[in-house]
Amino acid sequence: MRSAVVVYDSWYGCTRAVAEEIARGLSADGKVATVVAHIKDTTPEQVRDHDVIVIGSPNHFGAPTPRARALVQRLRGFDLRGKRIAFFDTCFARDRGKALASLEAQLRERNPMVTPPYLGLSVVVEGTRGPIVAGEMSHARELGSSIRSSLALTV
Ligand SMILES: Cc1cc2nc3c(=O)[nH]c(=O)nc-3n(C[C@H](O)[C@H](O)[C@H](O)COP(=O)(O)O)c2cc1C
Repeated sequence: MRSAVVVYDSWYGCTRAVAEEIARGLSADGKVATVVAHIKDTTPEQVRDHDVIVIGSPNHFGAPTPRARALVQRLRGFDLRGKRIAFFDTCFARDRGKALASLEAQLRERNPMVTPPYLGLSVVVEGTRGPIVAGEMSHARELGSSIRSSLALTV
């Protein structure tokens, strides 16, 4: 059975909620064993052991959190060939995509041959503590589902 981890950093719960929704999409057919973990409750080695690795961070000051950056820094030292890796962030509308692009770039710098990251997902929040803007969350489950579908195409 394939396995997936959705690992996130979160101060107020929005990024955690997105992580849980992505996981619902990943595990919907019961064929991908999926875990959701806060970054501080897991290790780079535990994350690396999964076939699918999804990493999310809130945007803090235009960038991913130090904890998210530190995780990618450690992961990129491993052999990640064949892994499905995707990033997501939560942010204000004006900073859509910034934090996840930074995480993608950090990974690619050392792993140009890694399975290309899926189109990253940026989820917009209304204020620092949320809530998530109406309609944004549906993309989270779609991301999980699309990764699951692509796994089903490969044995
Ligand atoms: C210290 C701090 C700095 C922030 N700076 C930005 C920023 O530069 N750009 C942005 O889009 N959002 C910024 N935000 C808002 C976060 O995007 C928002 O708090 C986050 O998406 C909520 O996710 P969480 O509930 O998982 O913590 C900042 C939030 C905090 C707490």
